[in-house]
Amino acid sequence: MQHLLAIETSCDETAAAVIDRDRRVLSSVVSTQTALHEHYGGVVPEIASRAHLERILPVIDEAIKQAGLTLQDMSAIAVATHPGLSGSLLIGLTAAKTLCLATGLPLIAVDHILAHIYACQMASGRDVYPCVGFVVSGGHTHLFDCPSPLEHKLLGCTIDDAAGEAFDKVAQILGLGYPGGPLIQKVATQGNTKACAFPRIFIRDERLDFSFSGLKTAVLYEYQGIPGQPPKAGQGDPQRIADVAASFQAAVVDILVAKADAALKKTGYRRLCVGGGVAANGPFREALTQLAARRKVDVIVAPMEYCTDNAAMGAIGWELFEAERFASLDTDITPGLVRR
Ligand code: KG4
Ligand code: ZN
Repeated sequence: MQHLLAIETSCDETAAAVIDRDRRVLSSVVSTQTALHEHYGGVVPEIASRAHLERILPVIDEAIKQAGLTLQDMSAIAVATHPGLSGSLLIGLTAAKTLCLATGLPLIAVDHILAHIYACQMASGRDVYPCVGFVVSGGHTHLFDCPSPLEHKLLGCTIDDAAGEAFDKVAQILGLGYPGGPLIQKVATQGNTKACAFPRIFIRDERLDFSFSGLKTAVLYEYQGIPGQPPKAGQGDPQRIADVAASFQAAVVDILVAKADAALKKTGYRRLCVGGGVAANGPFREALTQLAARRKVDVIVAPMEYCTDNAAMGAIGWELFEAERFASLDTDITPGLVRR
């Protein structure tokens, strides 16, 4: 059996995994940096790079050890080279290149976004393409036309904040901490989704784009008050926080599901694959299940452990391996989204 070592350092998780050619995950190690960034309410790129540098070799060692293998048992090394934070991506790529140089193994450059969508293929154990791919994370809210694992065409994306970023910023406004998504989801269980009438920006717009910045400002004004006017009462009150959180979360879920539905209609595809950190959100997952039933389409959401950043989804590297699309050792990172 052949084995792939996959490395992922695009944002604030240092991750490595070993996947066999049948796409079975033999190990998946993720070292999260949440504790380092929570004080700042978001990822600090310089801190992320330094932490990757300290952790990358132990994480790779651990992944190979947990798989019960050695570096000599690998057939190739795959690494996320785009998109992501420059400094973070560079650490993973440099580690991968160094190992390739030392062992003579081929290097494979993985698209982190395509990997998030491929996580759905890994989870379902069947061929999910062609599909609408939907990546909803701290850095992306992007809809793609995905005819095959290695092809994608952008259908629409956020014009300002990503959905996960909105969760993180709203959590800060409400004094909940970081990362915001899971904290908002938790307090929202005690809140009323109809307590605040937040805008669903672009929801009826034909374009498949998103905007969450106005929603974030609406939450700010609703909770703290409009600048220049007296501050709102009830700040710090747990029920008020729960109501604002629940109303905000409901607005985000409505927007995400409406646009996913519109993308299915536009492409004519009968399958939607959803990945990225926000796909871990319970009410979003429920709403997607309802969409599947209502529209009689196949909706595959990445399992919880493969929603947030991980290296197991680097299994997409096998698709590149089989297509003989290897990367040269002078391959560089591409921090921005590679548009097609
Ligand atoms: O995919 P990911 O791990 O990293 C990026 O590539 O951005 O996503 C992280 C984002 C954060 O913004 C976090 O708040 C959000 O995913 N997130 C959630 C939940 N869990 C993580 N958002 C909503 N509900 C959740 N349960
Ligand atoms: Zn990601």
